[in-house]
Amino acid sequence: MTAQSRAPRQRVAVIISGRGSNMRTLIESGRAADSNFDVTLVLSDKADAGGLRVARELGVEARAIPAAGIPDRIAYDQLLSEALSAHAPDVIALAGFMRILSGGFVRDFAGKLLNIHPSLLPKYTGLHTHRRVLAAGDAEHGVTVHYVTEELDGGPRVLQARVPILPGDDESTLSARVQQFEHKIYPQVVRWHCAGRLVYREHCAWFDGRLLQEPLQWGDSIS
Ligand code: GRF
Repeated sequence: MTAQSRAPRQRVAVIISGRGSNMRTLIESGRAADSNFDVTLVLSDKADAGGLRVARELGVEARAIPAAGIPDRIAYDQLLSEALSAHAPDVIALAGFMRILSGGFVRDFAGKLLNIHPSLLPKYTGLHTHRRVLAAGDAEHGVTVHYVTEELDGGPRVLQARVPILPGDDESTLSARVQQFEHKIYPQVVRWHCAGRLVYREHCAWFDGRLLQEPLQWGDSIS
């Protein structure tokens, strides 16, 4: 395929609440010469999210839609939905977005919504995963990228990376080890989705036409 005939890059919107290190890696991998996507919009529910400044410095449109003062979840999600719809993204990547989305929002964008969660789902849904894994004395931990459904952290899992828990680990060393893999697996999943190799259908994730009963594992040979 020539450069002229290459399909246009898919448009990715990233939604954050914090520093946005996953957002940054998505922006940067979207700029690789052979990328099939481009991060074209960053939204945050927090006006002071560090990631907004990072995105702007990288030349990406970045807007806060502050949730403060909007107690009603559906009203907030309507604002988010309007901002996204005006932008017509092919993918919406939640990356440290700390709000639970309403059922209507999730249904409206079903099949385009991805999330990264710092645990080996289905273990440890919700918050403070590193702390809980350490308290439980687990031998390994990790991170999962999954499609978003109405069930919190319960949508079809696509790709996981596993890391060992080492003697002397605390939340900070463990989260740093996990994050190294977050930054590898999220761009990979977005690439697969944008290439059409990964699709969400009938409430399941399908990869190369095969139903994913279990998530793919980082490090497995997947061409
Ligand atoms: C990551 O740990 C991600 O797995 C979770 O939120 C955190 C966001 O980190 N969903 P960052 O803002 O991308 O650095």
